[in-house]
Amino acid sequence: MIAESDKDLKRLNTLGLSAKAAWYAAPCSVRDIKELLNDSRFAAMQKLVLGSGSNTLFSGDYNGLVIHPAIKEISITEISDTTIKLKVGAGVDWDKFVAYCVDRGWGGVENLSGIPGCVGASPVQNIGAYGSEAKDTIELVDYIDISTCEERRITAAECRFGYRDSIFKQKLKGKTIITFVTFELALNPIINTTYADVKEMLSSTENPTLFDIRKAIIDIRTAKLPDPAEIANAGSFFKNPIVEESFAEKIKESNPTLRLYPSSPGYTKIPAAWLIEQCGFKGVRESNVGVHQNHALVLLAYEGATGRELLEFAQKIKRTVKARFSIDIDMEVNVTVSS
Ligand code: EPU
Repeated sequence: MIAESDKDLKRLNTLGLSAKAAWYAAPCSVRDIKELLNDSRFAAMQKLVLGSGSNTLFSGDYNGLVIHPAIKEISITEISDTTIKLKVGAGVDWDKFVAYCVDRGWGGVENLSGIPGCVGASPVQNIGAYGSEAKDTIELVDYIDISTCEERRITAAECRFGYRDSIFKQKLKGKTIITFVTFELALNPIINTTYADVKEMLSSTENPTLFDIRKAIIDIRTAKLPDPAEIANAGSFFKNPIVEESFAEKIKESNPTLRLYPSSPGYTKIPAAWLIEQCGFKGVRESNVGVHQNHALVLLAYEGATGRELLEFAQKIKRTVKARFSIDIDMEVNVTVSS
């Protein structure tokens, strides 16, 4: 198993932050991952799993081993009259996987079109967009326990999925390398146009197909969200805060255009983008960092930005939102800390 030392990570994170890893490896199979974990050079070293780096903020250099799982296989594990199960390697590009399913008429992940990242990251933060979440189709997750090197398999129920949350961000945080995710997809797809933007975009399309949904969502995303290849960003920087319904309704009384989104009974999601925009940050640039002009939830890292600078700017936004609305907004991006 080849491992590189002193690896530059700038091109391996969509925020384009300069950082170096003491060691880096991209194992392509379960065997390679085990070989890497059993290598005596890395036994005592801290380890970080990095997918496509689209949700990672390097606060500085990483003094350990960065592992990029690059398993690319896709296999059918079961077919019934109504469903098909696919076991997908962690290193498969998420959107290529979505396109693969849409091309074959298999429904369930089309609303998650255009999300950057790879399949292995999808259960970690339960990626979600446009009325759908990864948890709706995930059936099983296979992973390797980093400390024992054992292969494990858990069910969707055991993953304890929540809004941008799972066991991999809680009890198993930093302890696993996800190798495969098994999805259950529908052979007779049900088209989901519940999200207002999607409904609007497809208002004149009769009986939209999976292709129509995919195209509409990619068009919506392209119009709103900056392409990391053009301007460095990590998608939504903060999570949408969940607050008591009565509290949100009070804010809405004096701000009738505010859109609220359903959460668990008695609670509602307030768009963090709206809160940040109200605080005057939309389109603002401070030194090498800023907030995108079309979407206030997207923080930008201009050339020369450091992770520390971006974190300080994020803290300032968080403090301002708290002072004005008494609401805490939490980061969605994962901040890497190295000892
Ligand atoms: N809004 C503003 N100002 C803005 C942008 C949006 O006030 O600058 C308001 C809009 O009016 C809208 C509301 O915020 O009513 C929600 O906006 P949007 O539909 O763009 O969704 P979001 O809540 O900002 C979430 C996800 C996105 C996902 C979209 C669509 C989170 C943290 N983000 O964003 O996911 O694509 O919904 O479902 O939940 C990501 O995680 O990286 C990501 C892009």
